Amino acid sequence: MPIPEEVINEIKYRNDIETTISSYVSLKRRGKTLVGLCPFHGEKTPSFTVYPENGSFYCFGCGVGGDVFTFTKLIENLDYIEAVKLLADRSGITIPENGYDDSMSKLKNNIYEINRETAKFFHDYLMSPDGKWALDYLTQRGLSVKTIKHFGLGAAPDSWTALLDHLKSKGYSISDMLAANVIGKSQRGTYYDRFRKRVMFPVINVRGKVIAFSGRAMPGDDKAGAKYVNTADTPVYKKSENLFGMNFAKSFCDEQIILVEGNMDVISLHQAGFRNTVAALGTSFTNEQANLISRYTKEIILMLDADAAGQKAVKRASEILKNTGLEVRVVVVPEGKDPDEYIKKNGKERFEALLSGAVSEIEYKLLTAVKDIDTNSDDGKVQYLSRAAEIIAENGDIITRDLYIGRISEKYGISRTAFSAKVDEIRKKNYRASRKKEISNIIHPKLSGKELNPEKRKYPTAAIAEETVISVLLLHPDFFDSVYEKLKPEDMITAFNSRIYSIVCEPLSEGKTPDISYFGERLSTEEFSFLTSLYNSEKGRKNSLTVLNDSIKVILDEKIRIKMLDAENLSDDNWAECMQNLIENKKKGKV
Ligand code: UTP
Ligand code: MN
Repeated sequence: MPIPEEVINEIKYRNDIETTISSYVSLKRRGKTLVGLCPFHGEKTPSFTVYPENGSFYCFGCGVGGDVFTFTKLIENLDYIEAVKLLADRSGITIPENGYDDSMSKLKNNIYEINRETAKFFHDYLMSPDGKWALDYLTQRGLSVKTIKHFGLGAAPDSWTALLDHLKSKGYSISDMLAANVIGKSQRGTYYDRFRKRVMFPVINVRGKVIAFSGRAMPGDDKAGAKYVNTADTPVYKKSENLFGMNFAKSFCDEQIILVEGNMDVISLHQAGFRNTVAALGTSFTNEQANLISRYTKEIILMLDADAAGQKAVKRASEILKNTGLEVRVVVVPEGKDPDEYIKKNGKERFEALLSGAVSEIEYKLLTAVKDIDTNSDDGKVQYLSRAAEIIAENGDIITRDLYIGRISEKYGISRTAFSAKVDEIRKKNYRASRKKEISNIIHPKLSGKELNPEKRKYPTAAIAEETVISVLLLHPDFFDSVYEKLKPEDMITAFNSRIYSIVCEPLSEGKTPDISYFGERLSTEEFSFLTSLYNSEKGRKNSLTVLNDSIKVILDEKIRIKMLDAENLSDDNWAECMQNLIENKKKGKV
């Protein structure tokens, strides 16, 4: 049972979009709309637009859009029902029982409970006499009991069913334990604890909930398998969207955040007072993690190994961080150590010094680019200078570019004018390429990398006309009858628009004139984003009836044109049918 429409409307009315979004994004008024930096993809010039008059938002940069529920869902990482509930809570509205299908939120709740209970079980075990082996290991690695408690560390007993039995005794179901990924199912059909004889690190999200675990094997345990065993993705956890330590770091990172590689690095640095440290959870750094960080801080310090893998990681992370608006600096930890080992050996002050020696991204790149080139030879020099020009050209700040153009040209004894011209040339080339991509993104909106309407490339004229029809219809539901008579969903040429059109027609055919939020529940985030963009497009605002009829004609014409194109492959019968259609359409005055 969906939540009744009146309730949705009431919640929406009490949580107006401007106020709700303003508490996350700083917005500036621009005529009837408000604009700000998109919190979902990170950018330096605002393309995130809020439309208070119709309660929607849309980002022209990444194509995400929707209503106040969509926004809350995405920014708080919730599902639709949870977002509705959160906004209801905020405004003191109670949602009627059985008013919605809450099986997913029930499952999520159970997983959160199981995770909390599991964390407690592991922690209690660690602190018990039986867990001495694990506590010894952690203290011998330099962690204080205070730190251990602060991070809620624990240990999994050397047993196949200790946790399973414990959770059973607390009344949790096997299927929920499986969903939480704390137990596994063997081929023989028996259930077993996934974490055994390991020290356990709970992963806690920014709202303080235990969402996953990472378990480290004991050194010298040959039978343990992987050094770390981690929770797989579950309904409450996506490892690509979370960072270890973010729950603490978020309160200490107004200025900067330090990104390290491992859990132990995070804990060691927190213990030494560097509480603005986080780590990716056994994956390479992702866009989602970059966006999460950019919501809390201004600068990120990448602290990675000096080895080739570390260099690759810096390259990848800085690529991802390019559009987040975050300042990026890099620290290379010397002596092939990780930050945990370094701080233990050299102490807090040396670490502080290391941190203050963090170089800008551009400096780091210029330094590493020279590594395998012999700049004493002419060939080497030319090779390095063109690499350096590429690196400098990537920087968006003219003063920074000027500074490095000066330094590099002087250092390698070439004319500043020539080197500067080279940098400009690369910038122009890069600019053209990025404009091309930007324009293509506006014409073919993409979310999460996949194209929404792939057929739009093949049939652009038809697809644009289809979008116009949907757009006008959203603004003028009163045109529905006359539109539907001429154009049925199956008349639309691109399958994607056809589906969207039929969903839009559904309430209209019942005489309803739904608010845009009506569709939020019935479409995926991507589809709803797209619909919001049509809802706010300028297309249908003027002379809408003319525009509408023109567009319908374009679609029907295109349909016939496409059929004709295929005509060579048609049988005689189909050909006759096609012509018959054309004649009938003409009679009806459609074409
Ligand atoms: P490291 O091997 O550098 O571990 O892996 P570490 O954090 O320094 O651990 P210690 O100091 O040996 O105890 C870095 C990170 O990569 C992930 C973990 O998140 C780890 O913290 N990892 C590593 C895995 O997920 N699985 C593995 O088998 C190894
Ligand atoms: Mn380590």
